[in-house]
Amino acid sequence: MLRRALLVLLWSGLAAALPAKSPAQPSLSPAAQAGRAIYFANCVGCHGLNVQGGLAPNIRRAGQGSLASFKRAVLQGKGLDGRPLALTMPRYTRGFRPHLGRQPTDTELRNLQSFLKTVK
Ligand code: HEC
Repeated sequence: MLRRALLVLLWSGLAAALPAKSPAQPSLSPAAQAGRAIYFANCVGCHGLNVQGGLAPNIRRAGQGSLASFKRAVLQGKGLDGRPLALTMPRYTRGFRPHLGRQPTDTELRNLQSFLKTVK
């Protein structure tokens, strides 16, 4: 009972600590801004509030590589170095929230990369 209550408390605390929506950051370009929204709706839980890693590795360098290699990682689960990624990394073939139901567009992926490049 007590453990359950503690867990609920912990989860509600976490939910309160995470921003429900990414607050706009006016210093970012429109592309990076759009990428940031995708990151916060899809990737933040595992890759961290500052892309520093957490449950999953730091992926800041994914912003620097080619669109093709980023696409392979996000859609096919091939790491930036070509190795197969664990299934804990989702394959986003059905799109990003909130636009599920179609494959992510190159523009969305480029926007995500633009955002990753801005993170220091
Ligand atoms: C459920 C947790 C989870 C979510 C959500 C998630 N990832 Fe991952 N991601 C992982 C894990 C775990 C790995 C490392 C897997 C491995 O090394 O085998 C990973 C690896 C990656 C890699 C490869 C890194 C490298 O060095 O090769 C990229 C790129 C990546 N994720 C991008 C994203 C993007 C972009 C999103 C959001 C659209 C996202 N991930 C959402 C868990 C997640």
